[in-house]
Amino acid sequence: MKNKKTILASIIPLLILFGCNSETKENSEVINSFKAQAEFLVAKMTPYEQMNMLVGPGYAMQPDYSFGTNYDALTNIKNDVPGTVGYINGVYNEKTGLDIAAVKLADGAAGVRIDPIREGDSNTYYGTAFPVSTLLASTWNPDLLKNVGKAIANEVKEYGLDFWLAPGLNIQRNPLNGRNFEYFSEDPLISGIMASAEVIGAQSQGIGTTIKHFVANNAETSRNIVNNVISPRALREIYMRGFEYAVDNAHPWAVMTAMNQVNGHFTGQWADLNTKVLRNEWGFDGLVMSDWWSGDGNYPEMIQSGNDLIESGGVALAYRYGEVDARQQLENAYEAGELSAETIKTSAIRVLTQALKTPSNQNYVFSNAPDMDAHAQLSRVVASEGVVLLKNNDNTLPIASSTAIASFGINQVNTLKGGYGSGDVHSAYTVNIIDGLNAQFNIDSDLKAFYENFFSTNKTETDFNGLSTIIECEEPPLSTSEIDTYITNNDIAVISIGRYSMQGHDRTNTTGDYQLSNEERTLIDNVATAAHAQGKKVIVVLNVAGIIEMHSWQDNVDAVVLAYMPGQEAGNVVADILSGQVNPSGKLTQTIPVAYTDFPNATNFPGVDTDSNGSIDTHYYNEGIYVGYRYFSTFGKPVSYPFGHGLSYTKFEYDSPLVISNTLNTQQSLGKVTFSVNVTNTGEVAGKEVAQLYISAPSGDLEKPAIELKAFAKTALLAPGETQKLDFGVSAKWLSSFDTDNDQWVIEPGQYKAYISKSSDVNGVYPVTFTVSSEIVTAQATAGVLALPNDLIPADFETSFQ
Ligand code: BGC
Repeated sequence: MKNKKTILASIIPLLILFGCNSETKENSEVINSFKAQAEFLVAKMTPYEQMNMLVGPGYAMQPDYSFGTNYDALTNIKNDVPGTVGYINGVYNEKTGLDIAAVKLADGAAGVRIDPIREGDSNTYYGTAFPVSTLLASTWNPDLLKNVGKAIANEVKEYGLDFWLAPGLNIQRNPLNGRNFEYFSEDPLISGIMASAEVIGAQSQGIGTTIKHFVANNAETSRNIVNNVISPRALREIYMRGFEYAVDNAHPWAVMTAMNQVNGHFTGQWADLNTKVLRNEWGFDGLVMSDWWSGDGNYPEMIQSGNDLIESGGVALAYRYGEVDARQQLENAYEAGELSAETIKTSAIRVLTQALKTPSNQNYVFSNAPDMDAHAQLSRVVASEGVVLLKNNDNTLPIASSTAIASFGINQVNTLKGGYGSGDVHSAYTVNIIDGLNAQFNIDSDLKAFYENFFSTNKTETDFNGLSTIIECEEPPLSTSEIDTYITNNDIAVISIGRYSMQGHDRTNTTGDYQLSNEERTLIDNVATAAHAQGKKVIVVLNVAGIIEMHSWQDNVDAVVLAYMPGQEAGNVVADILSGQVNPSGKLTQTIPVAYTDFPNATNFPGVDTDSNGSIDTHYYNEGIYVGYRYFSTFGKPVSYPFGHGLSYTKFEYDSPLVISNTLNTQQSLGKVTFSVNVTNTGEVAGKEVAQLYISAPSGDLEKPAIELKAFAKTALLAPGETQKLDFGVSAKWLSSFDTDNDQWVIEPGQYKAYISKSSDVNGVYPVTFTVSSEIVTAQATAGVLALPNDLIPADFETSFQ
């Protein structure tokens, strides 16, 4: 028998694959070349071989996983990696000489998720736990995210994997979504910019990324079946816009459709989404894969809709709808003439075009030795740049290293690096908050020992579907006199509050979740009373998956640090902020309202049980386009902290905001408006500032939010007295709004105001203006797509806030 390599070399000279290491203009040539190779190779495959590439082999790699163990053979795997969460089947055929390696997919989003320990192997395969996406976004620093993308990709590649199933681009529509930590923001622009940065960074290393979950996976309740009813305008302006931005700017190799339905269609089975908009309107040229076990089991429809790859494949798919072998179903449909050879081929070419680019098909020899020390350092730097200083009365922070700290709260020991579920990274360690503080301050060691002992005796560990180990521990009881003594013995109090959340479960607006638990409330009250009676200050550190209620207790404390879930260096990150080693420059990418019930979708989330069968099946997105700050700013609703807010240990002044140029009237849809502002550090220490540009549109035919984020920029580290000019650009495309009646993106005429502001609270900010002389149509959309079900109109379910 001829050796496989010789056969391959003799019949496919084209298979001299290019390194795909740069995002240069060669990119499209490289892609075209991979496409040509894919076309050439697919032409040699039987329709059955092609179909085999369109369905993953199943989820057999964790055989005890409760969804089932049935799976099909995995074709042509080379160097399998334990913990791989899915595959694209390869092809091996001695007759035709085809030898395409199976492709390995790894979960994210805070790093790479594979099994860290292998039987009979003393080496370890940990991933670096980077901060969760919300914290990454709070840096407002895309350059840093590019580096995170590169580092994660380095781990993907050096551990022998090919694709990273991240970043997640869903909108934080409501704070109770159990997976919000995997997402960036309530705003599509910052989501799109941050996702693009990660994608560009990661793909520059020659691995694929998968932006997910397309679209509107904004709650975990009934995630496999729920039908989200969303107006086409809200879909396009809010829920799809970040995806569009990433497709436009970063060219991800893959898009993952969502579990849920939108307007009566499973997203992975809806041609409106996967073909008419994603490919035809946006020009996406990668592959579309389904989320694991999603849809109602109509797999031919999935392929026909433009969802090229069915994951995880196998027989246990669509478990809610009965066990169906996805590949068998495709074959049946093909043989019955219901799924055409052409459709199969088109998807196979799309899948193969991407598969050929992967390390597995480039014969990359991986090292199993990514640079974990450098990545740990990066994780710490990035996380500390994202931490948001919400409140800092009378310069409570920073504190000197000699400060004696009484550190309270079980979370200082049970510190959360990230959220649970498929986004959980198996890191080698997590530095907890007390150890981080101990390394930089003078910590009360008795109190530290008290918490550590209580934790080791009382913690519980629960396995979560083999995905995560959930560690919980109640707050230990501390009497007021014990608290008083600890306060007396120290200079300042720190209280750490933790909140986890996870895939498959939404949070609730209850005590111990969105609200403080009674024990936490008592702890904060007692510590604050004791400390203030002695003229000492109290700092609260929030190590949370998402925001919690703050209005009822924050006046009792002097400073609040929102650390979200900072990754494996958590404790060091918190200490870096408290000590001022790092001057905070993170800003909120979500609004913190006064009360949960202030959210315009609070009464609606997570949907309704329309057929009274005991489970939620329909979710009306009743607030339309008024998501997050778009709602609070338009309807003058007071908030605890506005979107974009974040304090620093120094002060910044903005001056000379200017419109530099406006080519909208001359260049129409190709035009843009540019702005600048001078930012000066007027305080005492070096710091970075994020300036945000919000546009307020003139009134026209379309209803508009009072303000919308259209650009932002972050300064370098400015020394006291230093000034930096920041530039902003807003293109016609990203300025426009969606006119459903005419299926168009338009910029309406009139005078636009631009607020260059420290946050979305633009009160007192003097706007600069520019004028659009007549309506500009920036893009024509496909007529009638993404329509609401059964002739519903938004007025039937959207709330009128007027
Ligand atoms: C999640 C995806 C994930 C996939 C594989 C699904 O349950 O929704 O985000 O990539 O599982 O773990």
